[in-house]
Amino acid sequence: MAMVTDQRAWFLPAPTEEQPKVDVDTGVAHIARVYNFWLGGKDNFAADREAAELVISSYPTVLASVRAQREFLGRAVQSLVTEAGIRQFLDVGTGLPTASNTHEVAQLMSPDSRVVYVDNDPIVLAHARALLASDPQGATAYLDADLRNTDEILAQAANTLDFSQPVAVMLVGVLHCVPDSDDPAGLVKRLLDAVPPGSYLVIAHPANDIHAAQIGTAANRLNQVMANPVTMRSHAEVASFFDGLDLVEPGLVQLHRWRADPADPDTELANYGGVARKA
Ligand SMILES: C[S@@+](CC[C@H](N)C(=O)[O-])C[C@H]1O[C@@H](n2cnc3c(N)ncnc32)[C@H](O)[C@@H]1O
Repeated sequence: MAMVTDQRAWFLPAPTEEQPKVDVDTGVAHIARVYNFWLGGKDNFAADREAAELVISSYPTVLASVRAQREFLGRAVQSLVTEAGIRQFLDVGTGLPTASNTHEVAQLMSPDSRVVYVDNDPIVLAHARALLASDPQGATAYLDADLRNTDEILAQAANTLDFSQPVAVMLVGVLHCVPDSDDPAGLVKRLLDAVPPGSYLVIAHPANDIHAAQIGTAANRLNQVMANPVTMRSHAEVASFFDGLDLVEPGLVQLHRWRADPADPDTELANYGGVARKA
């Protein structure tokens, strides 16, 4: 197993007292680095690039899909701040820092926005400082934690977020990393149970019922080489994560069409996005 415990990976930031060295298994593909490659980033290893290329060869549209996911995230945060008055975000499955991270979009419109980032990949941890460049009027925090440990996430996030006020729970491109056997719907429910009425849930989730044959091949190939398997889901399965909440317009749709101006009716992307309010 290839382990990086020092700065042999040129893109890892130098460790500091607050951010010590991280252990990274470079020999197996990880979703954060695969995704980074698809987005045109440089924070990935050969195993990640090979996995990413395997998917591109069976589903080239993945490149448009991941870009559309970032744009959906930006539009969702913008609408939550400007239309719903949300000032607090719990962003689980943050990914490697890229353009327009959640706090940047939120604080651009409302500098007092507070954001807690959560990810379980040590490479994201190593880059956490880039996620912490908060506007002084607001706050950001980073938790090295797993979505399956909702109690830990909620306890730690309470140091930065006020759970008596509305919070937007962001699960953008992460629930497909949780297999059915780990009860993703139960995890979503536990997070939403912890936030008050007026809070929101944002989900982006790759589809298995759009471009189904290509997606099936891509997912099988990915799961043969990845450290953790992915589970693509149907519209009905993704919609069920919003049970008990009120989906805001336009509902759960291919995410490049979610409040896009102009909405592109011709392109099909196997990626759903939706935003819902807790009544
Ligand atoms: C596809 S990336 C999405 C990044 C970002 N949300 C976006 O849309 O651009 C998925 C991220 O979720 C993280 N992740 C996967 N499984 C996780 C888990 N069980 N707990 C926490 N983070 C997880 C990965 O490390 C990765 O950074």
